[in-house]
Amino acid sequence: MKILVIPGDGIGQEVTTWGRKVIEKIAVKFGHSVSFDEALMGHVAIEATGNPLPDETLEKAHKSDAILFGAIGHIKYDNDPTAKVRPEQGLLKIRKELGLYANLRPIKLFDELLGASSIKPEILKGADILFFRELTGDVYFGEKKRSEDRKTASDLMIYHQYEVERIAEKAFKAAQSRSKRLCSVDKANVLESSRLWRETVQELAKKYPDVTTEHMFIDNAAMQLIKDPKKFDVVLTANLFGDILTDEASQIAGSMGMLASASIGDKIGLYEPIHGSAHDIAGKGIANPLASILSVALMFEISFGLKKEADAVLDAVAATLKDGFRTKDIADSTTSAFNILGTEAMGMKVLERI
Ligand code: IPM
Ligand code: MG
Repeated sequence: MKILVIPGDGIGQEVTTWGRKVIEKIAVKFGHSVSFDEALMGHVAIEATGNPLPDETLEKAHKSDAILFGAIGHIKYDNDPTAKVRPEQGLLKIRKELGLYANLRPIKLFDELLGASSIKPEILKGADILFFRELTGDVYFGEKKRSEDRKTASDLMIYHQYEVERIAEKAFKAAQSRSKRLCSVDKANVLESSRLWRETVQELAKKYPDVTTEHMFIDNAAMQLIKDPKKFDVVLTANLFGDILTDEASQIAGSMGMLASASIGDKIGLYEPIHGSAHDIAGKGIANPLASILSVALMFEISFGLKKEADAVLDAVAATLKDGFRTKDIADSTTSAFNILGTEAMGMKVLERI
């Protein structure tokens, strides 16, 4: 296994350290050989080379079997909308260059974390959703324009049929192996690109008669998700809607610090937490490493087909939580102060349990 680690910005460095240690530990335990390489992306890459995705990083990415990525972004740019070169461009470019058109975001609450969410436990218990967010189209990659007087701006929301088809195909297959329910989310009552989306999904649904397909408008979906998350199983949606909906859904898993994601296409996979660079806590040693560790579980399963190894990681995380250990973001009023751990101590607990 050739793994490229791209720590990125902010807490990315701290959390990927533990993702990597988990890979090493599993490799030893199950007798796999792994080699690692590291590369820059994001603000750190801009500082070092002027480019958020240096050529060297892209070359290393192409040569790897899978990528473990941390986080991207810097406050410096968040409040400077005029900046031409931005950290996020690195992530968007690598997604496009590697053809990572499907972003899988599983939302599953560990029972131990029922109290960590701001949503009532009885609403959350048993929720288990798998999001398929399209990742290389939509307003993210459509033409961007600014008028000469700079007073008008637009981002083109654009989809081609094949882009909808290829991710929908993956989502239908996943639905077949789960509870056979798929909900496609769009805004077909207003947007032409959503009407193409819906038409395409409806057409494809005929190939999967065993899957119950439902279509929902994004505004309604955002509401239903919090009202009754158990209603959903596989959710298929476009890039921007998926970006927003999955941040919302992180509350169903207790915290942003718990959510892992896999960005896949036809070859290399990139695995990353859905949380951002969190500069407010970067360098303090308190970031939750579990999303990075859970991303590693996804990597084992999806890129390498190693289900037992993936389960060993999931079990170790579950056992750590069961033993009462929490990082600050997932602690609640019942957590004893002794059990609130920093990044390193939490990472160690998981390693010990593997
Ligand atoms: C995500 C992030 C990115 C996105 C940003 C950092 C460009 O929010 O992966 O969800 O919008 O896709
Ligand atoms: Mg996001």
